Amino acid sequence: MKVMAFNGSPRKNKWNTITLLKNALQGAKSAGAKAELVQLYDLNYSGCISCFACKKLSRKEDGVCAVKDDLTEVLNRVKEADALIIGTPVYYGVESAATRAFLERLCFPYLKYAKDMRSLFPRRINTSMIYTMNISEEMINQMGFDRTFATTKMMLGMHFGACELLLSTDTLQYSDYDKFEAEMFDKKAKYKRHEKVFPKDCKRAFELGVRMASGKVPEPEPIPKFDFK
Ligand SMILES: Cc1cc2nc3c(=O)[nH]c(=O)nc-3n(C[C@H](O)[C@H](O)[C@H](O)COP(=O)(O)O)c2cc1C
Repeated sequence: MKVMAFNGSPRKNKWNTITLLKNALQGAKSAGAKAELVQLYDLNYSGCISCFACKKLSRKEDGVCAVKDDLTEVLNRVKEADALIIGTPVYYGVESAATRAFLERLCFPYLKYAKDMRSLFPRRINTSMIYTMNISEEMINQMGFDRTFATTKMMLGMHFGACELLLSTDTLQYSDYDKFEAEMFDKKAKYKRHEKVFPKDCKRAFELGVRMASGKVPEPEPIPKFDFK
């Protein structure tokens, strides 16, 4: 059992997204899985360049992205993975730029433009998205972030296998709120929440990691039927 985790935060150590990912990987390891962590911000790569090489009828292999850069080797390793855990901060209501570019390159080569839109990924594996964000849980729907989360969940479910979401809200952005612009925040409440709630988020991440390593892949939610004609 091989679990791959991807950190889509440029803050590679100690901060919110990486801390949750590390907890998830510990959970996966505790369940006997081999774990790998990929720091997306260490890699030099682009998003999909719309070359459509992966859709050519004359292609030699399915599920291969023709773009050659630092992501190429990582995408090769995904072929052997049994679970994917993708962590990202929310930037302007969506995944970080590196995460978006990664998701495009990860998913599009496996998308078959067939009537049932089936995936070319040969197995069903567990997937999960860990989102960390500054806003509170109550604001997610008000600000429409739930649409982003639902779309990515559906996309991963369709290409690879059921996707679990873990949302960590009202995160700490700075270690010292007195040194940065922060007028709009209640810094005491932020510190308190980080102390009280973030450890619970870490525990949820650990448990998610255990589930990711279980090998039991639930059915993804059904994809709505689209008629492109
Ligand atoms: C460029 C940028 C844009 C952000 N946009 C949002 C946003 O739209 N909504 C939100 O809740 N938080 C936003 N944040 C805050 C981060 O999502 C939040 O602090 C996150 O937990 C940071 O993750 P990290 O500690 O792993 O880097 C933004 C932060 C940055 C740097």
